Amino acid sequence: MKKILAVILAAAVVCTSAMMLAGCGGSNAGKGDSGNADNSGNSASKGELHMATNAEFPPYEYMENKKIIGIDADIAHAICDKLGYTLVIDNMKFDAIIAAVTSGKADFGMAGMTVTEERKKEVDFTDTYAKTTQVIIVKEGSDKVKNADDLEKASIGVQMGTTGDIFVSDFKDAKIQRFGKGAEAVEALSTGKVDAVVIDSEPAKEFVKAKGGLTILSDPFVEEQYAICVKKGSKLTEEINGALKELKDDGTVDKIVKAYITD
Ligand code: ARG
Repeated sequence: MKKILAVILAAAVVCTSAMMLAGCGGSNAGKGDSGNADNSGNSASKGELHMATNAEFPPYEYMENKKIIGIDADIAHAICDKLGYTLVIDNMKFDAIIAAVTSGKADFGMAGMTVTEERKKEVDFTDTYAKTTQVIIVKEGSDKVKNADDLEKASIGVQMGTTGDIFVSDFKDAKIQRFGKGAEAVEALSTGKVDAVVIDSEPAKEFVKAKGGLTILSDPFVEEQYAICVKKGSKLTEEINGALKELKDDGTVDKIVKAYITD
């Protein structure tokens, strides 16, 4: 497991795709309201904070009308708004986020990122802001994978560098196919190239809804917590924790989550 993460980190590359500049709009806004690229009404005075993310992970971060929106984007805007920074969201591969933060290219990483002991060796994590589970997606009526044990001998699709990837990489007899995007793993499942996809529960629901013919196994699986990652030793961790606590206490975080997750 250690080795796998090291390889992932070593392979982490530079920011590849769209960059998005966004002002810190209203922190109590509903879905996507605070993510406008042309929002010029911010009162930020402390300069920019660059957030590294991978906008392939609905409902936490995804592209809509060329903007990055989602729970993480909205929470990040609310945090920046509180702290007086202008938020700039940099979109990149998921497995490039930690390297972007450790190298100082980004100030923090927020990407539905699970807190793990291995990652803690590279970055500091803020307090957590969401819980999740890893789930298994299969084709409706599939008899190949009926529970987590069946994964051990299956052909599995994952998003590269995610905890789903790390988890299934322990299975010696499984055939793992790693994709740049979760949606590509789901596409491979639809076309029969893999037997199952292991991914976080909320994106799983979104992908299944969008595709049809797929289902999420009800077996309880690995539980995880999301947090924001920051360069080791940075004062920003405490700053973000302060803002995050206020946003949790005054119901803003809940409100943002409810704007995206309706079931
Ligand atoms: N929670 C998982 C992890 O930390 C998956 C996160 C994927 N996030 C993304 N924006 N693609 O590894």
